[in-house]
Amino acid sequence: LHNVIFQNSEEGSKEIAREISNLVRTKQQKEENCVLGLATGSSPLKIYEELIRMHREEDLSFSNVVFFNLDEYFPIDPDDSQSYHHFMAENLFKYIDVKEENIHIPDGNISYEELHDYCNNYENRIQKLGGIDFQLLGIGRSGHIGFNEPGSHLNSQTRIITLDHITRSDAISAFTSLEKVPRKAITMGINTILQAKRIVLMAWGRNKAKIVKKAIEGEISSNIPATYLQHHQNTTVVLDKAASSELT
Ligand code: F6R
Repeated sequence: LHNVIFQNSEEGSKEIAREISNLVRTKQQKEENCVLGLATGSSPLKIYEELIRMHREEDLSFSNVVFFNLDEYFPIDPDDSQSYHHFMAENLFKYIDVKEENIHIPDGNISYEELHDYCNNYENRIQKLGGIDFQLLGIGRSGHIGFNEPGSHLNSQTRIITLDHITRSDAISAFTSLEKVPRKAITMGINTILQAKRIVLMAWGRNKAKIVKKAIEGEISSNIPATYLQHHQNTTVVLDKAASSELT
């Protein structure tokens, strides 16, 4: 795994936004679609701000971009203020020229009966478009990428999972109490993620330093699903100083 350390998250986020915008523009010139895999949470916020700024000030268009989000709580209504549907609309999609049909976020409202086919279909849609060109990832303190919690298999695909206790407790402030944090989620699998042509994992702040060290320097293991990224040939880990502080 290749890692780059920036003085702070602003600089790291701008660099990632620059890479994304270059890819989108290059694909546009070739009249090709660009398939972007995106994450929610606090880590990507400054990247989305920068992409919106580039859309407004630098003519960056997303009309050729197809978006696939990593995950969504389950069950949750897309209109719920804590849903990742809501998050993506409020922090990115509302402000750019994305076509509604090019937005894909797992549906946290799907019935258990439909779930299996729904997840297969999510995979198929990615495949049909030729796979993910660029996948953005955060990392949870449990070691998850997407919501692939400890125990996730290397060959896992889009599916329903049970959230780790650390993940649920980190979500308390958003949901106001542990009881209200959903117990499950739908997530792209490890295999889905590793098939992306390019992966950038970002982590900011001191409270990610321990898990970042394990992910980068630890043995590859399902106990820390982020270690699976060590199998991928084109992944860069982008850190600020604080998140890199435990690295040897
Ligand atoms: C969210 C996702 C998660 C987060 C991770 C870090 O779509 O896939 O893996 O990236 O939990 O969350 P933040 O950025 O809030 O620290």
